Amino acid sequence: MSLNKKRFEELMEELTVDTDTMNEIAADFRYDLRKGLQNPDLSSLRMLKSYVALPDGSETGTFLAVDFGGTNVRVSKVTLKGNGEFSIDGKVAKPLKVDGIYDFIGPDSTAEQMFDFIAGLVDEVVGEDHETPYLLGHTFSFPSEQTDLNNAKLIIWTKEFATKGVEGHVVNDLLQEALVRQGLTNVHPAAVINDTVAVLLAAAYQQPDTYIGSIYATGQNTCYLEPFADRADPAMILNLESGGFMKLVPSPLDVKLDDASEKPGEQRLEKMTSGRYMGELFNLALGELFGEEEKCNYGFTSVDMSAILEDETPDLAKTAALVESKTGHALTQEECALVQRLAKQFVVRSARLVASTFVGIIWQLAGREPIAKQHIAVDGSVYEKMPYVKENLMRALSELLKEDTDKVDTFLQNGGSCLGAAIAAAMSEKN
Ligand code: GLC
Repeated sequence: MSLNKKRFEELMEELTVDTDTMNEIAADFRYDLRKGLQNPDLSSLRMLKSYVALPDGSETGTFLAVDFGGTNVRVSKVTLKGNGEFSIDGKVAKPLKVDGIYDFIGPDSTAEQMFDFIAGLVDEVVGEDHETPYLLGHTFSFPSEQTDLNNAKLIIWTKEFATKGVEGHVVNDLLQEALVRQGLTNVHPAAVINDTVAVLLAAAYQQPDTYIGSIYATGQNTCYLEPFADRADPAMILNLESGGFMKLVPSPLDVKLDDASEKPGEQRLEKMTSGRYMGELFNLALGELFGEEEKCNYGFTSVDMSAILEDETPDLAKTAALVESKTGHALTQEECALVQRLAKQFVVRSARLVASTFVGIIWQLAGREPIAKQHIAVDGSVYEKMPYVKENLMRALSELLKEDTDKVDTFLQNGGSCLGAAIAAAMSEKN
């Protein structure tokens, strides 16, 4: 069996994002931002209010932090020491789904089951101490409509989550009820924030000149500090839910993936860029190249794509073994090189699309003024670990920003979700 080379060339073409296209995307993104500030109904960006601005670095105290938004849920005890210093004094992390054992994110699971599991982890972190009062910050990484810092209602699940009884509900109420069932009446949820907001809070706690925070992982999303310069409103971080940005032309492969997803028609940008979907797109592409479209899923993940991209064996033996184990097809070295190029193309496309959205925000923040010197804080496994991501983000930023390139850089804000949740809990005391 050999790979369909003609389809390979077509795919490479369909997955190319050139500079002109990036410029258009950045301009469309900026347009949606502007429209969204007037009325989110006019924009494909949800522009969700967070009811929090940036910390000033003086926040102190010990808080619990829940980080809930990907395959793993993490609970930690964080002590903020001020001046950007902090320590993590306890931490547990568990997957929300273990194949064949339990699944709290599938359509057969309920809100009670899921939040009871999380409350159990909180109990572990406090060492079953049901006396000492704690404020808890909750990083809940899904589109939520907030009325204040502690009240967020899940609008719609993303990232293929499907647990019943959470959409349309106030998530910290569900968490609080589970904490009470666990006997943890001493733990008080005080803040709920998106993970992008958490990353920005964590970054700003430690480093000035950061106004944009982004997650590049299972999901992909960005927030920024909106100064509301021409309104009386105080500055506030807005969670764009940029994964839902729609002004992009999907390739036939993207359409296929969307049709088969939990929420067809939603999250176009995310489905073209994030770790959760890159592996699936790669599966679909290989299915086409092997003429086995009906199989659709060989089980490749973005982690497998990383392994393929990191394969430096002279004859690409690692790639050959991985592809054979998943698809049953033995490839020649030349075919393995094509598979590697294909994986790279998905990654490069993803980075170029994400960079275009960053530039849309930078242009919007600058308005008619020169672009400010700034850092963009990014957290997430794709940004941190996927080969080719960082350099392609920077290359794309420089294609778009041209002589302003030196004013903007991106940096890894590792563990931002947990630190950010603690900072938000601390900030809730000041509100
Ligand atoms: C999805 C969620 C969003 C989150 C992102 C990264 O896009 O909708 O809220 O920030 O994933 O986890």
